Amino acid sequence: AVTRQYQFDVQTTSVTRLCSTKSVVTVNGQYPGPTLFAREGDHVEVNVVNHSPYNMSIHWHGIRQLRSGWADGPSYITQCPIQPGASYVYKFTVTGQRGTLWWHAHISWLRATVHGPIVILPPAGVGYPFPAPNEEVPVMFGEWWTNDTEAVISQALQTGGGPNISDAYTINGLPGPLYNCSAQDTFKLKVKPGKTYMLRLINAALNDELFFSIANHTLTVVDVDAVYVKPFTVETLIIAPGQTSNVLLTAKPTYPGASYYMLARPYTTTQGTFDNTTVAGVLEYEDPCPTGGRKSVPIFAPTLPQINDTNAVSNFTAKLRSLASAEYPAAVPQVVDHRFFFTVGLGTHPCAVNGTCQGPNGSRFAASINNISFVLPTTALLQSHFTGKSNGVYASNFPYYPLQPFNYTGTPPNNTNVMNGTKVLVLPYGANVELVMQDTSILGAESHPLHLHGFNFFVVGQGFGNFDAFNDPAKFNLVDPVERNTVGVPAGGWVAIRFYADNPGVWFMHCHLEVHMSWGLKMAWLVQDGSRPDQKLPPPPLDLPKC
Ligand code: C2O
Repeated sequence: AVTRQYQFDVQTTSVTRLCSTKSVVTVNGQYPGPTLFAREGDHVEVNVVNHSPYNMSIHWHGIRQLRSGWADGPSYITQCPIQPGASYVYKFTVTGQRGTLWWHAHISWLRATVHGPIVILPPAGVGYPFPAPNEEVPVMFGEWWTNDTEAVISQALQTGGGPNISDAYTINGLPGPLYNCSAQDTFKLKVKPGKTYMLRLINAALNDELFFSIANHTLTVVDVDAVYVKPFTVETLIIAPGQTSNVLLTAKPTYPGASYYMLARPYTTTQGTFDNTTVAGVLEYEDPCPTGGRKSVPIFAPTLPQINDTNAVSNFTAKLRSLASAEYPAAVPQVVDHRFFFTVGLGTHPCAVNGTCQGPNGSRFAASINNISFVLPTTALLQSHFTGKSNGVYASNFPYYPLQPFNYTGTPPNNTNVMNGTKVLVLPYGANVELVMQDTSILGAESHPLHLHGFNFFVVGQGFGNFDAFNDPAKFNLVDPVERNTVGVPAGGWVAIRFYADNPGVWFMHCHLEVHMSWGLKMAWLVQDGSRPDQKLPPPPLDLPKC
């Protein structure tokens, strides 16, 4: 294991897409940002210097941060933001993970352009549990607005309505040829017949789960969220914001020198408006007779599922299984000592002046977990916890209830019971937790990709309709459930996860659809120190930003 040092200069940069130029925040002037490489076990130090006019913090999405919560990055949760002109060195060790993760800004909507891949290779001398690919390529999906995204979200929060939808999806920052004035900005992957390629897929879009497919080629999924899975082959996969996946592609042209579109477009059950456009990249085979031969080679396009095809999504997720081998065991908690049931969904707040907001029926959109719409404090939760000064910063009474028989999935009345709060849920060190998350279809059933910081969890069960506390647990998979850090709570359904709380600190959990996060679909767990010295959160680094 070695120490790897990176320099991240956060700055404003002009970027042109769709024939329109705007100033965006980037790292080192790159959009998407630089790739961070490490081997499992390496120590990483990233010096983030903020030259931009915005407050900034960077999150290393999916990195366990075992006893290094000070480096996790969500603003007002584990740290105060890095102010303009200031800097902070994030220091962490990559433990027990191999695959692809990513880093992104964790404040307001700045992650729209401040993001990049994290490539984690196995330790030196250790191979993959599948045939090694000839080449590895990050394929990062994003979402582009022609207007300034900070203006888009602040306007939505002021009016109480939905934010303006994006103008394009992107692959590695490029919208591709299906948008106007964009053919020159197309991601191209040049491939050779017979070679295998590992695509390191990352969904960095703000608000949309995506279907992804490559014409006439299959994809073999070998890893999700930096954990190996039992390989399986598909034509289309689904990836939610926050999720990552390594997939193998074998280059086999069906027509010499042909090109094949790779397409991504949203999956959503939302009733309202959303960006239903399609990003295309190109898989390009060398033309066997390049000069004087054919004038044009064919381009093939895949067929993607319907935009609201929930079956396609659940068929895909049902295939995900941990490797659960002797070498890569699945440490699923078999006995649970803390059980929680959370409702996740949308609702509304009344408007200050009745009927003047642009949300449903003149109200203001809100989103919540157990009807608490989380409000960020003005200082950071982790500091307040560490110094014992939580008064006025957060309350430790995050509500949870024994399961009430209630129909969450029909057409219940509009939920106006959402309350604001900054509340955490306290866990003793070493708790074995089971959490059932139930989607509430208050404003139409919608899938919510829930992301937990500081832990991987096992997805032991999922289903449609209302969770049945008497019959569903008997069907849980405690043998080889997929292990990950972001899971879609199905539209009109529920998901059950288990994790072992071995990481002291304050850990954010939220919907990774940025608009839902802005509306309050977030909460925090507080995991207490254990009794042994190696079970305690160390003191903060001296350069930790102050509010
Ligand atoms: Cu990738 Cu808290 O987020």
